[in-house]
Amino acid sequence: MAATRGLFGSSLARKYWMALTGLFLSSFLIIHLIGNMPILFGDQEAFNLYAAFMTSFPPIKAVSYLLYGSILLHAIDGIFLMRQNKVARPEAYVSYNGKANATWASRNMGLLGIFTLLFLIIHMRSFWYEMHFGHVPTMDIEGAQVKDLYTMTIEAFHQLWYVILYVVCMIMLGFHLSHGMSSAFQTLGLNHPKYTPAIEKAGRYFAWIMALGFAIIPAYVYLQHLTA
Ligand code: HEM
Repeated sequence: MAATRGLFGSSLARKYWMALTGLFLSSFLIIHLIGNMPILFGDQEAFNLYAAFMTSFPPIKAVSYLLYGSILLHAIDGIFLMRQNKVARPEAYVSYNGKANATWASRNMGLLGIFTLLFLIIHMRSFWYEMHFGHVPTMDIEGAQVKDLYTMTIEAFHQLWYVILYVVCMIMLGFHLSHGMSSAFQTLGLNHPKYTPAIEKAGRYFAWIMALGFAIIPAYVYLQHLTA
């Protein structure tokens, strides 16, 4: 019981799990962004094959369960830590000049995380749920019937409100990742006087490349639709 508490319950353990799951989720984002790139080139077959591969190839399916578990653990630990920080915050906090000591992102990680979680719920309802449980029309690719998620995605990005939602959520994701990356490395003890500034810079680049990459896709599809 005590061991279980140590593994999951202490705030240090929670921070470790947040760092590990956060880095794992970030690595998923790289694969997901590359997999979504065919949308920018209008490559329906490549996108549908990627989506089919991600949801049917057994080893990838197994990694998917790890992914869902990581999302849950990251969110639950984040909520616990957010509440703990609120309780532990001294009264004198009112006169504490947060701006001088921390970035806006670092002071609002909980809020940014909740935003990202809400985005994920909407996103997975739109695509993941439809892919697994909806009635998505299929198309023939080299003799195989593959779900046409491409057409579904393009149609979703023809709605302005949906595109704005994605772009706003990607800005939030960019801020969340830009602080999250350096925080994760620090938690895992990957600190070095010489390399830490470079690692932090790389983390910020990663965050904004991901945010921009994911935001460009709906914006591009919408603008293309407008000018067609
Ligand atoms: C332009 C932006 C995006 C598009 C077009 C897109 C598209 C899709 C599609 C079609 C699926 C279902 C098929 C599949 O599993 O690959 C999916 C699943 C998923 N997406 Fe996205 N996505 C985008 C951005 C994001 C972002 C920014 C995140 C995370 C913050 C995210 C997280 C996920 C997750 C966790 C799944 C479930 C994966 C699985 O079941 O293995 N997506 N996305």
